[in-house]
Amino acid sequence: MNSPCNRTSILDGKHLAKQIRTQLKNRIKQGVAEGLPTPGLATVLVGEDPASSVYIRNKIRSCKEVGVESFHEPLEESAGQEMLLETIKRLNQDPKVHGILVQLPLPRAGYSEVEVLESILPQKDVDGFHPLNQGALFQGEPRFVPCTPKGILRLIEETQVDIAGKKAVILGRSNIVGKPVAQLLLGRNATVVMCHSRTQRLEEEVRSADIVVAAVGVPELVRGSWISEGAIVIDVGINRQDDGTLVGDVAYEGAASKASWITPVPGGVGPMTIAMLLENTVEAAWGVS
Ligand code: GUN
Repeated sequence: MNSPCNRTSILDGKHLAKQIRTQLKNRIKQGVAEGLPTPGLATVLVGEDPASSVYIRNKIRSCKEVGVESFHEPLEESAGQEMLLETIKRLNQDPKVHGILVQLPLPRAGYSEVEVLESILPQKDVDGFHPLNQGALFQGEPRFVPCTPKGILRLIEETQVDIAGKKAVILGRSNIVGKPVAQLLLGRNATVVMCHSRTQRLEEEVRSADIVVAAVGVPELVRGSWISEGAIVIDVGINRQDDGTLVGDVAYEGAASKASWITPVPGGVGPMTIAMLLENTVEAAWGVS
């Protein structure tokens, strides 16, 4: 990991994700040569949300890069819940498909996210969103771990800072990021504080944090002055400004001058999510290595 100045180091997710993809590519090449099945990932996209379309395109491209076979199932927004459930049922039964990912969020009208996520076979749930996988994580016996939280933990581990006993303040309580990150950090014996839109004295909470994970989708909500000297800052936010530039949930420059480690936006957490998805897909195909 490279250092922009003598105190703060950048947690370069782009670089780490590239390393992980290269390792996976080699592993897949070798495994397939030895007779293991080519790992297969099915992606399901309902509707044409521009951001979701970009995410899915990137996922498919990364599959190709490492040698994961990709099966894409685009559905019109009007397809409806039954058609979506039928698609998932077919993918559940397809032996070439080892992992299934339904891109979230689903269109607001006419879809039940809970029902959809429950319909994916837990052993193909490479997103780790099925209640069984969520429950396993909650019990401290994770099976498939959601990709963004898994990538966040990897990035924190890169710092080689001992997580045990550290105070981790998490901003955002989503099922995709905030809640699973809390479970993972608890599993590493951190003291975890969950903050959200109704939290009072947010600044005070952040000021007391050794590790800050910001996942709220509010541009630069966390001011640089809130970051305590030497903290690790993980910024999950990707917010597009009116001028087209991307900013995180943390005001980067100010925070970087206080933190010991910080993730950039873009190039921090984002690329790690896809690397972890590929890793989970290989795990689904071949079991845990
Ligand atoms: N939408 C935003 N993040 C994710 C993710 O990790 N998986 C899926 N399926 N949808 C998402």
